[in-house]
Amino acid sequence: MLEPTVLAFETSCDETAVAVVRGRTILSNVLSSQTDLHARFGGVVPEVAARAHVESIRSLTHQALGDAMVHPDDLDGVAATRGPGLVGALLVGFSFGKATAWARQLPFIGVDHMEGHLFAPLLDHEGFAPPAVVVLASGGHSQLVHVKGWGDYQVLGQTIDDAAGEAFDKLARFMGLGYPGGPAIDRASEGGDPDAINFPRALPDRPYDFSFSGLKTSVTTFIRKAQEAGNLPPLADVAASLQEAIVDVLVTKTFNAVEATGVDLVGAGGGVLANRRLRQKLQAEADRRGIGLMLPSPTLCTDNAAMIGVAGAHWLAEGSYSAWDSNVDASMKL
Ligand code: KG4
Ligand code: ZN
Repeated sequence: MLEPTVLAFETSCDETAVAVVRGRTILSNVLSSQTDLHARFGGVVPEVAARAHVESIRSLTHQALGDAMVHPDDLDGVAATRGPGLVGALLVGFSFGKATAWARQLPFIGVDHMEGHLFAPLLDHEGFAPPAVVVLASGGHSQLVHVKGWGDYQVLGQTIDDAAGEAFDKLARFMGLGYPGGPAIDRASEGGDPDAINFPRALPDRPYDFSFSGLKTSVTTFIRKAQEAGNLPPLADVAASLQEAIVDVLVTKTFNAVEATGVDLVGAGGGVLANRRLRQKLQAEADRRGIGLMLPSPTLCTDNAAMIGVAGAHWLAEGSYSAWDSNVDASMKL
């Protein structure tokens, strides 16, 4: 089976996402965002997320199949996110996917959400293939992965506290910019001076690890003191400067990993990779060093089912499926 047609589900957090892919080609990719439901709580409420997945997954599946113009009889397999994520949320997509596969006697593939992000560059770049260094930065994770081969991953470094997206989200909330925070800070930074305030870059001595909780303290302290002194710089400068502190360490450590592994290709994934400044700086550094950079388009950086589909299609083509009694794993590790 060279280019299997796969129906894929992603429900690990607050997006209900369904896609149909054929090999690495997206036939449809639909999504129902729950952002508005969670916004008033300032973050994702697990029970609310799970219920919203239940309410929308059936109609989204019809929409995905319709958009792809694929009849269920034409499917070769079904894939769904197994973990990591919110257990109740994961269970909705995983159970729905497994039941769909069982009813049609199709192979079922449980996919690691982070492996989905690793595969995402392949959706836009035909030439994306290991070995590569992939930087993953989302609301729940920040990792540098040496992808030696598909299925052969070495996590070189990760965050020792908050994820990069979490730092964006918490800081945006503190600054009253709303939820999700990453896109809000990205917008607020427009026209701002990234060098206006020199916020700390953490763990300079650890080449691949991240730490973002100190930045949160330093930004909140800076803002409080400046407010008291009545000399708060323009919001755009504060946003651009804190964004620069996050972007800087992600870029520096990604290329530390490139040097150490000797690879000549960088991939990326996770919601934070939608950040315009991060994309720009990764590209500039890759160009300067003559290293290939394959970024997924912004909508394929944030959570989506196409990335689960392309990983599922890969494993299906390799003849690797999940057992019928397999279950979700909320704290799954790559
Ligand atoms: O990968 P993702 O969609 O979901 C998780 O698996 O967590 O990532 C969501 C995270 C959120 O923290 C969000 O604030 C951040 O990605 N994000 C951004 C941008 N767009 C989304 N962070 C910075 N700049 C953006 N443009
Ligand atoms: Zn994600």
